[in-house]
Amino acid sequence: MTNLELIAHAKNAAENAYSPYSGFKVGAALLDADGNLFCGCNVENSSYSATICAERCAFVKAVSEGKREFARIAIVGGREGDYSKPCIPCGVCLQVMSELCDDDFRVLLCDGDNVVEYDLCDLIPIPFRG
Ligand code: THU
Repeated sequence: MTNLELIAHAKNAAENAYSPYSGFKVGAALLDADGNLFCGCNVENSSYSATICAERCAFVKAVSEGKREFARIAIVGGREGDYSKPCIPCGVCLQVMSELCDDDFRVLLCDGDNVVEYDLCDLIPIPFRG
């Protein structure tokens, strides 16, 4: 799957966001090492702290299906269908990714019509390891 196709899946997933409190929709499209696709969206809660981010939604779906090897994730976020600005994953999601992915796991974001790519280790260089 191309990076642009993966971004398109993330945009579709964002349309399922349940975000009545922030009005901010996030979508994530995760590819595992075998090319299986897992999509997620943010699911907010009136307690705020119980909110689940799109990225963790996608990872929990994949891990709960027995997947453990991951290749790439595309993430989009925005208001009113505008996903053109890069949506940097939050620290909690980066920590979860660092638990489950290698340093060279690729994180793809939208920047206008372009796709910008990062290695996970550049976004979270020193994760908590306990
Ligand atoms: N959000 C995500 O889904 N992923 C992130 O990495 C950062 C934030 C969601 C949580 C909340 O529903 C909304 O974006 C605004 O913070």
